[in-house]
Formats: sequence, C-alpha cells, structure tokens
Amino acid sequence: MKFAVTRLSAVSSTNEAAKELARAGAPEGTVVTADEQTAGRGTKGRSWHSAPGLGLYASVILRPPAEALAVLPLAAGIAAGEAVAKSSGIAVRLKWPNDLLWQGRKLGGVLCESGFTGAEFDFAVVGIGLNVGHGLGDFPDELRGRAVSLRMAAERAIGREAVLAAFLQELEIWLKRLDRQGGAAIAAAFASRAVPEIGAEIVVDAGEGPVAARYEGIASDGALLISTPSGPCRFLSAEIIRIL
Ligand code: BTN
Repeated sequence: MKFAVTRLSAVSSTNEAAKELARAGAPEGTVVTADEQTAGRGTKGRSWHSAPGLGLYASVILRPPAEALAVLPLAAGIAAGEAVAKSSGIAVRLKWPNDLLWQGRKLGGVLCESGFTGAEFDFAVVGIGLNVGHGLGDFPDELRGRAVSLRMAAERAIGREAVLAAFLQELEIWLKRLDRQGGAAIAAAFASRAVPEIGAEIVVDAGEGPVAARYEGIASDGALLISTPSGPCRFLSAEIIRIL
C-alpha cells in the first residue's frame, strides 16, 4: 500500500479530517496527522486528550472489504502495539477492543470509523492516538493516575515520526494477514497480546452499571466473549460493552 501523509499543525480531529477526504474520494493509504487536535475523540463519545506536540494523532483511510470491518480495530491495535515495540522497545498489552496499555496504564488507543454511501460500505478510517512525549504533568489531573507516555515508559525521548512510520509498516503487514488468513488469525494474534488472562474475573458495563463476569477471550469475528451468572455472552462492539 502506498501511504501519503498530510501533516497539519492543528485540526479538530484527524479522524474527521480523514473522513472528509475519504468522502471526497481520497484513496486508501491517505494519512492525516496533526501536532494538535482541538476536538480529539475517543470511543463512546469521549474526548481524547491531545496535548500539542506531545502525542501521535494520526488517521489512515482504508477501503477494505466490508467483512473485514469487525476485526479492523483489532488489526490496528496489534499494529500499534508492534510499532511501539519496534520504535521504543516497550512491550504493551492490548485490551479489547482498542486500548494499548503499559503496566496497566493507558498509552494509547485506536478509533475506527466507517463511511457508507446509502447502505453501501464505502471506507474505513483507522485513528491512532498515542501518548509519546508527555511527562506526568502534561496529563490533566483526572488522567494522571491512569495514563502513561512512551517517554515515561522508555525513560528516553521517542520521536513521533518514527512511531508513525513503524505503525504504517505494521498496519500494512497486519492488513495483508487479515486479507490472506482471515479474521480468526487476527483475533488469535490479538488474544495472545491481550489482557486480562482468559478465565479472569472482570467487571463489565453494558450500559446498566457494573456487572461481574468471567473473561472467555476473543471470538474469530472479533467479538468479546464473557460469561455472566446468566450465561455466556458475546459483544461485537465497544459501543455496547466496556471492560472496567
Ligand atoms: C480510545 O482509546 O478511546 C481511542 C482514542 C483514539 C484517539 C485518536 S487520536 C487520532 C484520531 N483522531 C481522533 O479524534 N481520535 C483518534
């Protein structure tokens, strides 16, 4: 895949900018990155803290087959984790479906969105947000106990451009794997890098408050598998359920 990177100093959200470009016909491999986002978005309508000059904020336009959509966030998460390892030597764990964690603290996340023309799938945008150059004081109070950056984890400065280049390389590798080996291979690769351990007692929230459950793993279509006192359940989207 040929990547063409547009670098902006500030934008509301690189995902929004990429979606606009995709709607206007921009090809697969178009990448938007910015030094700062003024309205960076996370999953579930949350905002993504996007301190100027400190994080990697980037979005990639993809046009995969519609069947690939469910595991795309997992493939992107694996690619992000591999990119972090390559560029900084830090080993991250993945938390379904889009969190990158280092020692239990949030290092980054992935936000995948899709565009449709009528009922027809048109494009996907894979957005990655990674805390790179932050010191503890660069995070707002409410994130300070839960967030970490590559600089803090590696105890040295890591360049955002090197991380982006590694991410794009890895994304291509994992998209090829998805294409050739199917969603099951991606789900298995994700599961082998993921927390919690299979069988762990977890707490989930599917919109009705915290519920105790047992983590059973990731299905081959990317769904989260859990069991609760009322029986086994599967959830395809983080918009429906969250592991607390
Ligand atoms: C999450 O963990 O909730 C996902 C965070 C994704 C943030 C990135 S930053 C680049 C791209 N643009 C956005 O507005 N969000 C994603």
